[in-house]
Amino acid sequence: MRDYRDFLGEVLIEKDQLQERIAELGAQISRDYQGKNLLLICILRGGVMFLTDLMRNISIPHMIEFMAVSSYGVGERQSTGQVRITLDLNTPIHDLDVILVEDIVDSGRTISSVLDLLSARRPRSLCVCTLLDKVERREVQIPVKYVGYTIPNKFVFGYGLDIDDYYRNLPFIGVVDLEKYEMVRKTG
Ligand code: PRP
Repeated sequence: MRDYRDFLGEVLIEKDQLQERIAELGAQISRDYQGKNLLLICILRGGVMFLTDLMRNISIPHMIEFMAVSSYGVGERQSTGQVRITLDLNTPIHDLDVILVEDIVDSGRTISSVLDLLSARRPRSLCVCTLLDKVERREVQIPVKYVGYTIPNKFVFGYGLDIDDYYRNLPFIGVVDLEKYEMVRKTG
């Protein structure tokens, strides 16, 4: 695998900026959910980095859970947006105040489908917290209560987001220079 510097177009959000914003979100959630029974649900895999930093910034008692979903197939997903659960929660959520934690909302299809699935389990409340929101790509209108950053329609990576499954570990959000990426991919 190549060094990310070979195809990094620009750093969109620096590590320190991310951490500052996540601290704000954590403080806001701590205020909003005071006295409630909070459960953070991370949708794997992209949301992992965000979840672990977010929870460190939430000062009230809370629980965490993980879910993984997979589309029914590219063609179908594009037309219906349906996903199936490949890793389900270990606990019932009917008496909990749930926040879904995502790295990015793009078309909105994944989160819309997950919201449908989880609403059926009758949580006390259910909302979405995403680090990044690509608003201009939205195809399904969904309520997003907490947004870290609204970003332009660029191919971003790092801080949980992958390119071909790699580079999730980077502590910042970068933009891929697609021409350079294609070149380094071909030359190995
Ligand atoms: C990404 C991201 C969201 C989804 C957003 O996941 O983590 O779950 O895409 O796209 P949408 O709004 O158009 O549905 P991805 O399927 O890339 O899986 P990953 O988290 O394992 O990388």
